[in-house]
Amino acid sequence: MMKAALAAAFLPAFVQAGERYAVIAAGSAGFYNYRHQADACHAYHVMLDSGIKAENIILMMQDDVANSPDNPFKGKLYNQPGNASKDVYEGCKIDYRGKVVTGQLFTDVITGNKAGAGGRVLESSSGDTVFINFVDHGGVGIIAFPNGPVYHASELSKALKLMKSKNMYKELVFYMEACESGSMFPDVTADDKILAVTAANAHESSWGFYCGNDAKVHGKNIGSCLGDLFSISWLEDSDFGKFSSETFDTQITRVTKRTNKSHVLQFGDMSIKTQTIGDVMDRVQGEPTPADFPQSNAVDVRDLDLAQAVYAYEHAETDEEKKRALRRVQEIAAARKADEDVFNGIVKAACHDVNMHECKETMIGSTTDLKDMDCHYKLVQTVFDQCPRREEHGAGGWNGYNMKFSQVLANLCESQEKLGKDADTLDKIIRGQCGRASGETAQIIV
Ligand SMILES: *[C@@H]1O[C@H](CO)[C@@H](O)[C@H](O)[C@H]1NC(C)=O
Ligand SMILES: *[C@@H]1O[C@H](CO)[C@@H](O)[C@H](O)[C@H]1NC(C)=O
Repeated sequence: MMKAALAAAFLPAFVQAGERYAVIAAGSAGFYNYRHQADACHAYHVMLDSGIKAENIILMMQDDVANSPDNPFKGKLYNQPGNASKDVYEGCKIDYRGKVVTGQLFTDVITGNKAGAGGRVLESSSGDTVFINFVDHGGVGIIAFPNGPVYHASELSKALKLMKSKNMYKELVFYMEACESGSMFPDVTADDKILAVTAANAHESSWGFYCGNDAKVHGKNIGSCLGDLFSISWLEDSDFGKFSSETFDTQITRVTKRTNKSHVLQFGDMSIKTQTIGDVMDRVQGEPTPADFPQSNAVDVRDLDLAQAVYAYEHAETDEEKKRALRRVQEIAAARKADEDVFNGIVKAACHDVNMHECKETMIGSTTDLKDMDCHYKLVQTVFDQCPRREEHGAGGWNGYNMKFSQVLANLCESQEKLGKDADTLDKIIRGQCGRASGETAQIIV
């Protein structure tokens, strides 16, 4: 007893200055999502450059892009166009790859659950600073992983609360790139000592960057976008190399300015912004100017698959390639139409017996804030389980395009009273519509 009390009294003298840790996750798979894994490997290098020890960084991604047969530079990944672009795959140490990369793994890693993760997990403690970076597709209240169910805002909230109760950080900075990512941190407060920065607000897409003609590296077009606008904005700003003098405040201000196609939002503890982005000496004098970064046109992530397929069609060199590219354009268009039909069907069924002005239009088109997490979580899982699967990897019934309809589920959940239908009834409607679409003979997988 006495000894313990003494030890406690002397403890502060022995406590080391906090260390820095990072967890990076890319949530997609497939060559057409090249940009997410390029962003993630680039982030890995930025973390190292900023002074974080390699043993304190954990990276998870499908890792199916660098060595994809579609990659014109086998075994390499580029996150920036041009002849000076560096291969970010080189030295990018991936801890978890392939099938194991799921939302559950992400939770296990950030909450330090070694038994669950089956590998390296975050082992930070109360004096440490933790940086988390997630890059992928998302929708209202959801983000995707390359395997397994989508990850719900309520799951993320629980994981962050668990990290806090386990004293896993002094300060936590979370940069998230995804459509509607502004909906993922609804209950983070300043008391949580978390600063979350999102690529978009709760009701808009995020944007791909270095696409089409701009995806050219060392004289060759990669055939997929190289990056995402929010991600390359903070990564290239970090690359400038002012780690020990640039604050998060400065970086976020610059990133917000450059990410001008969506609204970068901040949540939680703004006092963290006075910290510097790294703890190694500055590499340069002066400040970056727009001329330090390649120019390009951003492309709405929701339209990216189609835009990339059309680009491939326009630039196909042989008849065979042209035919294949055209087929892909048609398949993507058909899959979108089919997804739209499913969600229109859900709304029609939810509204059919309701006396409400423009019920269907309201359920499809409004942008209600998500509050009823339990209802939304339930409906999101049902779409995952029951709706037609459109992508080889994709998250069950969800895909990069139809995640925009997660907003529709939020609209339904927030209108239970007006519709006279509770979550269970809405769930049955979705099961019916998705089940019917899944049963149709011509399943469309792109
Ligand atoms: C970039 O490299 C390619 C191939 O190595 C070359 O053909 C091209 O002229 C270079 N472009 C510039 C602007 O130097
Ligand atoms: C966004 O920034 C880019 C590059 O600075 C600029 O070319 C473009 O016009 C801006 N777009 C909008 C909508 O402000």
